[in-house]
Amino acid sequence: MRVLHSIVEMKETRRKLRGSVGFVPTMGYLHKGHLELACRARAENRNVIVSIFVNPAQFGPKEDYAAYPRDTERDLALLKKAGVNIVFMPGAEDMYPPRYCTWVDLEKVTERLEGAIRPGHFRGVATVVAKLFNIVEPTRAYFGQKDAQQVVVIQKMVADLNMNLEVVVVPTVREPDGLAMSSRNVYLSPQERKAATVLYKSLSLAQKLWGKGERNADVIRKKMTALIQSEPRASRIDYVSIADAETLEELDSIDRKAVVSLAVKIGKPRLIDNIVLGR
Ligand code: PAJ
Repeated sequence: MRVLHSIVEMKETRRKLRGSVGFVPTMGYLHKGHLELACRARAENRNVIVSIFVNPAQFGPKEDYAAYPRDTERDLALLKKAGVNIVFMPGAEDMYPPRYCTWVDLEKVTERLEGAIRPGHFRGVATVVAKLFNIVEPTRAYFGQKDAQQVVVIQKMVADLNMNLEVVVVPTVREPDGLAMSSRNVYLSPQERKAATVLYKSLSLAQKLWGKGERNADVIRKKMTALIQSEPRASRIDYVSIADAETLEELDSIDRKAVVSLAVKIGKPRLIDNIVLGR
């Protein structure tokens, strides 16, 4: 496994690769969710490239950029075991040199949900992912359903800018009790960790109600919200959304493929999760 630190080196190495390239962009502190993406990429491509870059552009001024968990040695050992060929770890000054001024900004799909609460977040995500795509030139790029709005944003960017690659979406990897794996779960105290299962419980409730034929989105949103409110450690609900899977516009009636998503603060971290209804 080769570890490359500069953009020039990455481009040179890419030029020499033969066959398909599967690419997994990450911010490191890897868990089984990330590794699932790497495994899928391994199974479907001749070469696998994983990037580790904590992207300052996607963190707000009051967010956890400086405190974002990092453990490069452990990450590299996990990626080696997963059969990854190349790890790309650019420096922030290489990605955003002085006088950097080009941004990828999507309208509409970035205005709701995470985008509404984290202004500028998806501008940072779309920009860094577009840059990484230009540097790595992947055949396929792998993203987790865990970040549902990110998937919509990347798919839209790739379509709108006619990017020459396939976006592969990988189902959310969960702990045995349903909690979606996330690098931010390390911030949870043992009690909060237990309380955090309320996210998946409320998504499961939505799935169950929908399975029984309920199609009124507001009825489901209200029952999900009540369930989350019954957990005292859930200190803030940012949103409980049932939205069109493509446009992320809120639905009155669930008459098409829908994403049920939520963002809840449990103790210090703010956790997000989602499920898809209908296919
Ligand atoms: P990061 O949070 O490190 O996640 C990297 C990828 O792993 C994303 O596609 C994310 O959706 C996926 N992932 C995280 N947890 C997962 C889980 N439990 N199951 C399945 N997939 C999971 O997302 C980012 O980094 C950044 O925004 C990035 C795309 C790298 C741009 O900076």
